[in-house]
Amino acid sequence: MADKNYQKENEIPREKEADREPMTTRQGHPVTDNQNMRTIGDRGPATMENYHFLEKMSHFDREEVPERVVHARGTGAFGYFETYGKVGDEPVEKYTRAKVFSGAGKRSPLMVRYSTVAGAKDSPETERDPRGFAVKMYTEDGNWDLVGNNLKIFFIRDAMKFPGMIHAFKPDPASNIPDPTRMFDFVSRSPEAIHMITFLFSPWGIPATYRHMQGSGVNTYKWVNDEGEAVLVKYHWEPKQGIRNLTQEEADEIQSKTVAHATEDLYMAIERGNYPEWELFVQIMEDDYHEELDFDPLDDTKLWPEDKFPWLPVGKMVLNENPTDFHAQIEQASFGTGVLVDGMDFSDDKMLIGRTFSYSDTQRYRVGANYLQVPVNRPKTNVRTNQHRGQLDHRDPSEMGDDPSINYEPSMRGGLEEAEERGKPHQPTYNAEALSKPIDRPNNYGQAGETYRNFEDWERDELIKNLSNVLAQSDERIQEAMVYHFTQADEDYGRHVKEGIKAKVKEMEQMEDEGVPGREAGQKSKFGAGT
Ligand code: HEM
Repeated sequence: MADKNYQKENEIPREKEADREPMTTRQGHPVTDNQNMRTIGDRGPATMENYHFLEKMSHFDREEVPERVVHARGTGAFGYFETYGKVGDEPVEKYTRAKVFSGAGKRSPLMVRYSTVAGAKDSPETERDPRGFAVKMYTEDGNWDLVGNNLKIFFIRDAMKFPGMIHAFKPDPASNIPDPTRMFDFVSRSPEAIHMITFLFSPWGIPATYRHMQGSGVNTYKWVNDEGEAVLVKYHWEPKQGIRNLTQEEADEIQSKTVAHATEDLYMAIERGNYPEWELFVQIMEDDYHEELDFDPLDDTKLWPEDKFPWLPVGKMVLNENPTDFHAQIEQASFGTGVLVDGMDFSDDKMLIGRTFSYSDTQRYRVGANYLQVPVNRPKTNVRTNQHRGQLDHRDPSEMGDDPSINYEPSMRGGLEEAEERGKPHQPTYNAEALSKPIDRPNNYGQAGETYRNFEDWERDELIKNLSNVLAQSDERIQEAMVYHFTQADEDYGRHVKEGIKAKVKEMEQMEDEGVPGREAGQKSKFGAGT
């Protein structure tokens, strides 16, 4: 029997406060009871016509959208880009007619999303992983997205390999156990990844925070001027806060206390008014084969040497506003490499072209066909388009122009019409066979060796330790293949990894002899070095 007195005592006091707004349903009806379902009698079965309960529960059941297939764990902020109006000492108009760069001091609002790559939406931010650095600028010419990472290069140079690479980096699909052997199995058959692996297993693979890391477009783009002439460009963001990376031990220490240190660091810095800034640099190269280089300029596993292609400052970014609704503004943010403005173009970098298909394709699935109507993704300029309808279409009718009944083009009766070209078009010419073929200057090891030699001593020591600890868990064929690749990059590099693996295997065998679970204990995350 229900205890009436107890129920009364248990009721939450309902004191009305004048400054609090009354709750409504999404239909605008007042909600007078948000605590109790309607039942038949005190203890009887619940009735099913209870509209508010059904709406509350069914909306909750649908409140997650699919997480990003990669870069699921992330955070973001808002701010602005301020152009210097020049590139180095030259007027920027010499190279590009993009308005976002013209007129020194001009600001364009922007949003940024930082991320890790392989982990799930709530995975630890201390993972050894490249960090995503995606910027969406709301320019006067419409949106420009620069979707990059912190390491300036990438694992592979052909988009065809991306799905396989990500499968290898994610947990075993049968057991869901993270297993670095899968990754090294893939990498040992993909030597173009050795340069990126060299960065990733050094302290550069765990930036201390998002505020203390560089960003880079990685892929090669073009800048186009009024005459339709183009140059190749690479973009780089340099943090004014300085660069700071973590050792595996430091990362493990943080991870034992929180999985969200980087999100918290960025959010709290902005709350305190300590606004992070990055300077934007470009490297410029003539669009050519460049016989004098020992690598292909369109190969994203390579750095463009700074002595030949200096970093030229073009502007700065300031982040001064936190999100107020993480799901709406960060989770639904949709970036893509195809989102360029007039004065920019695609290079023939195969990765860039492959990526350009993938981003908007996944966003149509992840956020929906009308993902560009979500406020964070909408340009701040006029949108005038006949691409309408579909699920959750809630355009402003003005997007269809003065006469929404003419939703086609061309027409003599009205509706939207094609815009004028602003400058001369950039029209590259091609005369070649269509074929599937690797590039002819792979040079998989040269820059990996240089990067290894350029590290500071402690960075090299960390690299060897991290690689040895993880590779000791792989089978011998993979260990041998990896040592071969490292030796090709630099003999000293290969020798140290070989010795490190041997020492770690011995240590694990001793631990097993003593009854301590050695091999299994090391496997704490997909790239975790198990210090
Ligand atoms: C996110 C595909 C290479 C940086 C994504 C997403 C996909 C994808 C499907 C999820 C997008 C979303 O759900 O909104 C690919 C493919 C690649 C590739 C097919 C190669 C062929 C790269 C490279 C970089 C990169 C080389 C770095 C330069 C990012 C970043 C994000 C991302 C930063 C997260 C964007 C955000 O914060 O929403 N990528 N990616 N990706 N990718 Fe790639």
